[in-house]
Amino acid sequence: MSSTVIPVDPFDLVIFGGTGDLAMRKLLPALFRRDADGQIPAAARILGLARTDQDTEAFKLEAREALQQHVAAEELSAEAVERFIKRLSYLHIDVTDSSAWGDLVSYLNERPEHIRVYYLAVGPALFGTIAQGLANVGLATVKARLVVEKPLGHDLESAIELNQAISSVFNEKSVYRIDHYLGKETVQNLMALRFANALFEPLWNANRIDHVQITAAESLGVGSRGGYYDTAGAIRDMVQNHLIQLLCLLAMEPPYKFDADALRDEKLKVLRSLRPLTGRAVLSSTVRGQYMGHEADAESYLKDVGNPDSRTESYIAIKAKIDNWRWSGVPFYLRTGKKLRAQMTEIAVVFKEPAHSVFGDLETPIMPNVLTIRLQPDEGLQLHIMTKDPGPGGFRLRDIPLDMSFAEGREGSWRMPDAYERLIMDVVRGNQTLFMRGDEVEAAWRWIDPIIDAWEASGLKPEAYDPGSRGPIAAVEMMARDGRRWREIEA
Ligand code: BG6
Repeated sequence: MSSTVIPVDPFDLVIFGGTGDLAMRKLLPALFRRDADGQIPAAARILGLARTDQDTEAFKLEAREALQQHVAAEELSAEAVERFIKRLSYLHIDVTDSSAWGDLVSYLNERPEHIRVYYLAVGPALFGTIAQGLANVGLATVKARLVVEKPLGHDLESAIELNQAISSVFNEKSVYRIDHYLGKETVQNLMALRFANALFEPLWNANRIDHVQITAAESLGVGSRGGYYDTAGAIRDMVQNHLIQLLCLLAMEPPYKFDADALRDEKLKVLRSLRPLTGRAVLSSTVRGQYMGHEADAESYLKDVGNPDSRTESYIAIKAKIDNWRWSGVPFYLRTGKKLRAQMTEIAVVFKEPAHSVFGDLETPIMPNVLTIRLQPDEGLQLHIMTKDPGPGGFRLRDIPLDMSFAEGREGSWRMPDAYERLIMDVVRGNQTLFMRGDEVEAAWRWIDPIIDAWEASGLKPEAYDPGSRGPIAAVEMMARDGRRWREIEA
């Protein structure tokens, strides 16, 4: 078997917002794991940068604590931790102060041959300032890569502004827009499934597929992120990016090769083929909900965000259509929500029923074949097929899942890598395949904006649903009107 760890070239990674939640919870643990696996060369350095006035020792201490908290104890060998901590430095800089960039220039100029990665783990309001600040001091070089993460705008207009602020300094080829769903192993497996097997592609169209369901159900509420979440809601937080990306990968035409622009061109075509939802069609093709218990002390979205009048949705279901040859007439049902009955993210491709049943009246009806691609928990694939129930006593059929857990597919002990591990290494390698291009982000907003406008114009409030339930009843009714059912939300 070929080695699964391909070392990257020496780099300097600068994390703007180095003391923040994303850095501590995701970026440093991911970098630690790649380092522990031997992927990061000895000379590579990591610099935390933030406004907090502290020194490198204090930052290292914070980083150690973050590793203790977010990396499993058995992965934390003393040797690996020490090696990783040695790579860290810290600078306190107020990026809005144009005279404050000298220390960063000196630090990076110590290793002019290194690849430079600027990771903006800060709010989007600072993206333009930082990009410009880097350019002003000559740090926006050809070897540099800029990493940004959602929210990439609040609507189409702000997304265009953001893209312009970035592209006035960095070439699109140097910009890495992260959607962490694209770094998930199972999402990449979706592409392997479609394009490395001859079995599915001939069936992957409106002739054979009845509908598709994409679910990202979460059991937790909005937690401490209420302030941000209430300005976004489920549609901006999850649909505009993660769910639409899944839809694109599932629905796109095969790219001519597995290369950044070839793949992104195909995703863009899907985005452009999404049937616009506007006006009254929005009200019949979407459902919004807010979790809200009945008792006075019950959990409630309104309490969690501290806004008793909020009309922001913590749940959304959308019936989307793709107006192209392959998918004509096939609904794509998307749903996501907080405080649902289980944590479950999956894509389910539901095939059409057999044209005719040769078995006559059966106790158990013939169920349509369903292919599920499970992102969490238990990453893997299931293909539900009808089989004969073994034994005598008539001819009975059974719906059996052919089950493949991705973790089982590997020999020996193996850990499912976190999305950020792959994505950060791809940035260093200069591979943009799993990152969003600016035009994709804009196309997604172009589809989302009219949906939000129609809700706002309607003045309707989201429907209440019980915490720990399957979501609003109206979502079940939306499916029932089409003669279909949602798949169960279960861990
Ligand atoms: C984030 C959203 O992008 O994705 C969160 O902002 C959400 O609200 C999270 O909880 C879900 O990610 P995952 O990887 O846990 O499915």
